[in-house]
Amino acid sequence: MAVKKSRKQIYEGKAKVLYEGPEPGTIIQHFKDDATAFNGKKKQIIAGKGILNNRISEFIMSRLAEVGIRNHYIKTLNMREQLIKQVEIIPLEVVVRNYAAGSFTKRYGVPEGTQLGAALVEFFLKKDKLGDPLVTEECIQVLKICDHMEMQEMKNTALRVNDFLFGMFMGVGIRVIDFKLEFGRFDNGEFIDIILADEISPDSCRLWDSQTNRKLDKDRFRQDLGGVEDAYKEVAKRLGVFSSEGGPVDEIIKNELKIKKRRKSK
Ligand code: TMP
Repeated sequence: MAVKKSRKQIYEGKAKVLYEGPEPGTIIQHFKDDATAFNGKKKQIIAGKGILNNRISEFIMSRLAEVGIRNHYIKTLNMREQLIKQVEIIPLEVVVRNYAAGSFTKRYGVPEGTQLGAALVEFFLKKDKLGDPLVTEECIQVLKICDHMEMQEMKNTALRVNDFLFGMFMGVGIRVIDFKLEFGRFDNGEFIDIILADEISPDSCRLWDSQTNRKLDKDRFRQDLGGVEDAYKEVAKRLGVFSSEGGPVDEIIKNELKIKKRRKSK
């Protein structure tokens, strides 16, 4: 589908841009190649990341919808963009952890990779200025971010997403260490529903190869491990997200990057 050039930008985030969609209540979500970490202090362009995250997120959101987990994804428009439902984003990052890593390891001194025994759900306030602090459920209510029912809904959905992702990735030899979700309020015409929004990709998940423990996610960038694009490609390949495109993933990405370069130089 051709996308209007004159469209209005609504928001620019660190890795995505949102534009007004063609119909009221829709938004175009554009995935950039920019990678940031440590609250934007570390930055780099990773060629092809936007293409990979667009398609990985599409794949996961579509599978989740198939098992009844409502989310904002409508359809893919092109290599970097998807049409999504407009929602009012709840300013929380909902993190699910199966193994210790990242800020959990730092906060509690538990060695990276330790199995947690049961999935843990944590909430972080989505506020860059404050460095996205951890918040308790009581605090979320005191701050009037959402009510108890909405929080329960997010928690239950997050755990369902975890069960699904854990199984799906296990099938392709990947261990889901942890991941981050965002939710939004969506007016479905009858009531305000809480649905999954944002993206699910190696930017927002920790994914380790089940056999070798090789990191296949943004930690490669955060920890200067190199091979970021190859790791994301590996995830895409194992999930088969480009299978309908035909041809090897590397070629598809290379061609798309060539087209982008040509468009820029015009
Ligand atoms: P953390 O261990 O740094 O708290 O991160 C937990 C998960 O959330 C991990 O999979 C990475 C993801 N994440 C984001 O998607 N965005 C962020 O800004 C941060 C800090 C983490």
